[in-house]
Amino acid sequence: MGYFRANIEKAKGYEPGFQPKQMDVIKLNTNENPYPPSPQVMKVLAQIKPEQLRRYSDPLANSFRQAAAEVNGVEPDYIMACNGGDELLRIAFEAFCDENRPVAYPVPTYSLYPVLANLQNCKAIEVSFDGEFNLPAKLAGTNAALTIVCNPNAPTGSFVSVEELASLADELSGVLLIDEAYVDFAERNCTELVKDFDNVIILRSMSKGYSLAGVRFGYAIAQPDIITGLMKVKDSYNVDAIAIVLACAAIKDQQYFKENIEKIKSGRWELTEQLQALKFNVRDSHTNFVLAESKNRSAAQIYDELVQRNIYVRYFDLPSLDNKLRITIGTREQNQKLIAALQDIVGIGKW
Ligand SMILES: Cc1ncc(COP(=O)(O)O)c(C=O)c1O
Repeated sequence: MGYFRANIEKAKGYEPGFQPKQMDVIKLNTNENPYPPSPQVMKVLAQIKPEQLRRYSDPLANSFRQAAAEVNGVEPDYIMACNGGDELLRIAFEAFCDENRPVAYPVPTYSLYPVLANLQNCKAIEVSFDGEFNLPAKLAGTNAALTIVCNPNAPTGSFVSVEELASLADELSGVLLIDEAYVDFAERNCTELVKDFDNVIILRSMSKGYSLAGVRFGYAIAQPDIITGLMKVKDSYNVDAIAIVLACAAIKDQQYFKENIEKIKSGRWELTEQLQALKFNVRDSHTNFVLAESKNRSAAQIYDELVQRNIYVRYFDLPSLDNKLRITIGTREQNQKLIAALQDIVGIGKW
């Protein structure tokens, strides 16, 4: 017998996107923001005092709760800070799921959900999206303790309307966690649902829209009773003192944030058109990446040829994502280099 619980023994674990060691590569594979965080973030970082490191951090990160509450138009007791959105997912699995309390989610989606289900030893009910990535009606009838909808969805970039998610929240007997890690790049979000539904939890990440993937900061928005329950499951000091200060500075600088988001959205529109001109099928994306399907060449082959040119995108060897590449929106220069490389690879001349 091994040392680990049986489900851990057989678990494969989450496979993060490849992190190349060289810095001079074009890295469009893990949906990081290509622009730096707000200058306010760098300013407060330079002002960190030894005393802030010597003491434990604020267990509730109240300064951040206050700042996030203002931005989202809710009270601070609707917010819980966490060590990246991923920590909130882990907390939710621990809080709501076990051997008799399954999780449900539409697929294809974020590949961490089945990994967490396995760790928690709970059944994962996977309900397939249709070809247009509409919310599957069957999701409302699974009786799961926790239902997760990633919206906008990764890796498809598709978006389900707020009204449809309100109906789903109303129909479910369990909790609905709406993973809004990419919502900063969409036109609408589901914050208003937490006011009407006591079973809705919204996940937000500071990794994408606020360029803080390395800091590890995210947060939950939900009614205070749910927040209190989730807090029982989190580590006491789950976010560190430096991260709290940096996340506060980032979320308070809404002007920088909005300008940054607009740059990425215009890059997304431009890249979509250029990929379509190269005969890729590209659906409208509501995120900071696009999913591009190659009509003429194998996606795996294109991926390899891009790597040879020091350009990294993400290729999932899964039947539901057959022949598709997920490409993070980079800076204008990075996007142009990608397009030039693809012109070379797929053999369609410059235009
Ligand atoms: C769909 C989705 N949800 C949540 C996360 C977690 O983000 P983080 O832990 O960086 O805040 C990610 C990260 O890539 C994601 O793609």
